[in-house]
Amino acid sequence: MRITVAIDGPAGAGKSTIAKLVAKEFDLIYINTGSMYRAITLLALTKNIEPFEVEKLQKLLDDTDMYFKKDRLILNGEDVNDELTLPTISNNVSNYAAIKEVRDKLVFLQQKMAQKFNVIMDGRDIGTVVLKDSNFKFYLNATADERAKRRYDELIEKGIEVDYRELLETIIKRDYIDSNREINPLTKAADAIEIDSTNMNIEEVVEFIVKHIKNNINYRM
Ligand code: C5P
Repeated sequence: MRITVAIDGPAGAGKSTIAKLVAKEFDLIYINTGSMYRAITLLALTKNIEPFEVEKLQKLLDDTDMYFKKDRLILNGEDVNDELTLPTISNNVSNYAAIKEVRDKLVFLQQKMAQKFNVIMDGRDIGTVVLKDSNFKFYLNATADERAKRRYDELIEKGIEVDYRELLETIIKRDYIDSNREINPLTKAADAIEIDSTNMNIEEVVEFIVKHIKNNINYRM
């Protein structure tokens, strides 16, 4: 049976943690689309290509190969996952993600994956663009303060020193750019279920999503 699940929402809403757990429950392939935008950002920054240098970016995209091995993104043959969440990437990714050429290539790759596998994808335009016809769409939200707090704890746990105020500002700025860009902005799909997780823990959100899927699909494990 074909099943696809779309999870959208602003930065730090807990999408990836939750998507991974829901993936396990239904044996879905988890695709973190944000890491694909982060990977292009990493390459562009390494090669000093600015977001407005569209021709250079197009060449970079043409020369780039990426795929997922389990939950890890392999970029031109290398596991770069540890670099993708660094603050320099977070601070710049939204500017590259707003570029049409970048989105065209990554949406194409994401849709190809979804044709091949039963997937759960998280991102900003999954319910509205990438998996427009998805059986299950969720829009995960939480206050900016709560989202910044969660990111802060995550980074500190990884041993990455960050300033909470700076992190909060980055999140607010990123949400603004993502929500206001011309192409495929972050927005809730009309048929997505909105979950405000400000006062919910991960288990509660996962339980809600799993229950909803089970109640609405005649799913055979
Ligand atoms: O999900 P994550 O926070 O890692 O995403 C990083 C950035 O990638 C977002 O802030 C957004 O600019 C971009 N993105 C996007 N569309 C997606 C996923 C991520 O534009 N589907």
